[in-house]
Amino acid sequence: MGSSPQYQCRECGSSLAKWAGKCPDCDAWNSIHEIQPRPDWTGRGRREQAPEVLRLDQVQASGAPRVALGMAELDRVLGGGLVRGSVILIGGAPGIGKSTLLMQALAGFQHVAGQAGLYVSAEESAEQITLRAERLGLPLDTLRLLGESCLEGILSALEQERPAVVVIDSIQTVYTGQLDSAPGAVAQVRECAACLTHYAKQRGASIFLVGHVTKEGTLAGPRVLEHMVDTVLYFEGEGDSRFRMVRTVKNRFGAVNELGFFAMSDQGLREVSNPSAIFLARGRQTVPGSVVMVAREGTRPFLVEVQALVDRCQHSAVRRVVLGGDANRLAMLLAVLHRHADVATADQEIYVNVVAGVRITETAIDLAMLFAILSSLRAVALPRELVVFGEVGLSGEVRPVQNGPERLHEAGRHGFTQAVLPAANAPRQAPEGMVLHPVRTLDEAMQAFDSLFLDPGPRPGAAAAGLSRVGRSTATGPGSGRA
Ligand code: TYD
Ligand code: MG
Repeated sequence: MGSSPQYQCRECGSSLAKWAGKCPDCDAWNSIHEIQPRPDWTGRGRREQAPEVLRLDQVQASGAPRVALGMAELDRVLGGGLVRGSVILIGGAPGIGKSTLLMQALAGFQHVAGQAGLYVSAEESAEQITLRAERLGLPLDTLRLLGESCLEGILSALEQERPAVVVIDSIQTVYTGQLDSAPGAVAQVRECAACLTHYAKQRGASIFLVGHVTKEGTLAGPRVLEHMVDTVLYFEGEGDSRFRMVRTVKNRFGAVNELGFFAMSDQGLREVSNPSAIFLARGRQTVPGSVVMVAREGTRPFLVEVQALVDRCQHSAVRRVVLGGDANRLAMLLAVLHRHADVATADQEIYVNVVAGVRITETAIDLAMLFAILSSLRAVALPRELVVFGEVGLSGEVRPVQNGPERLHEAGRHGFTQAVLPAANAPRQAPEGMVLHPVRTLDEAMQAFDSLFLDPGPRPGAAAAGLSRVGRSTATGPGSGRA
């Protein structure tokens, strides 16, 4: 046994050789505590008989057997249905709809597969769960509930009932009597998750673990939880929006970054199979600072509005805020804009928002952000039928993104007739009824912008008179301080 003490962070589970006041990995304060050193693996304690080593052709791989849950959007994020014996961690802010979704999924599974599931509630009472199920219109006579937060109790119930799908709501409230630490402590969460994962693999049961997230938006408890499970899903969405997105963060059985769309209704979560129609529904107006992009997260393209507000800074600290996108990406874009197109924004406050709480992680948002910013900066609107997508590089080049044709098709399907896109993404022949504006560089993108914007209407305070379609340098916008 090694004799020197070891330390571990209670928040993120990372190991340290020395004690510290602040965890170097997750920056949590007062979270480092001493742990028992690991046994020494060199030599002692070896088994008499070595386990068997296999050649891959000796393994009978039948492919992962999957069951559809009767909810296409959830099946999509799982990689095409629920894999037997898999463990899925689903995280999300309080009240976002985790319990609702899993209750619906459990009922869906029982309906489709004709096998029994079990809902283990370690935080809500049986009455609360039943009221919810009633509200969701689910068959109360087939759903089974276990109100238990002790791991040993849960495991013996599982051994007895042998459900094919189990929901543990939530993993942070389950505890094992084997450990002294309080429920929710890292050691507890990890141990309980490990035991449940072991059970899932051994019995071929699929287990959903509900995980709480912290204020910072990461799963509370150790990161090791994410390593332990097969699939990690995150609920996304803004509090006041009805729309909810479930994103695949990790999946041993499918693609990551897949998105499932839902809308919260009186009867629980409804699936949104055509997100484009939803995000653009509410009579979009042609106003400065708004542009539609074709995003593609996971395996599906969809249209979403990107908005920007650029305003002269009224105080000393210039704010740059991106909701639904990457703030570093915006900073980079502004630098490129300054360096390669001579558009200065140093004294401007800039807010970028992807509507309906959608979060875009792909670089195709660059050109859309750029157009939204220019549109707001110059107080001119872009045509309603325009879509924009493309990546912008540091040397001012516009780079292609994946699946250009598919994006154009999606735009065409929703009545969009113009597209600004990377030249390398432009098909030789434009889709019928669509005018393409392929651009290779930032310069060309600026020219496309100048040829597209609509004549500015009267707007108080906007120095729109100085705008010109030919010279972009005269149109750096109201109050930008640079001509
Ligand atoms: P819930 O699934 O309890 O969230 P979580 O488990 O992630 O904490 O969802 C709670 C919210 O959803 C609550 O604010 C009420 C709302 N809701 C509806 O709007 N309609 C419904 O049919 C249900 C069941 C909940
Ligand atoms: Mg809940």
